[in-house]
Amino acid sequence: MGKFTLGKSKEEAKGMLPEGNIKITQLGAKKVCVVRNGENVFAFEQHCPHRGALLKDGHINGHEEIICPLHSYRFDLKTGRLASGGSCGDLEVYKASLTEGGLEIHL
Ligand code: FES
Repeated sequence: MGKFTLGKSKEEAKGMLPEGNIKITQLGAKKVCVVRNGENVFAFEQHCPHRGALLKDGHINGHEEIICPLHSYRFDLKTGRLASGGSCGDLEVYKASLTEGGLEIHL
């Protein structure tokens, strides 16, 4: 679907995304969750692949995993792979990086 850029510089993008704070952003027709851990940024679908809970209300642990607020399944933010929980599909993740021109997300 293309590349989206948030902010005009790395510093501006970091300011828009306080560390560990999961934000929902509209990119074209799609809403995605975005979170920052230091210099690493992650973008992923907003609904949990298990039962559709809003992942914005979850939290990030020290292993760069998102923990769903509903049943506490964990998903690796780099790969989307289910890290712990029952059986469900993987989380859809998108390529995201902090660049000198802002936060780039590829859908
Ligand atoms: S809805 Fe996310 S773990 Fe069940």
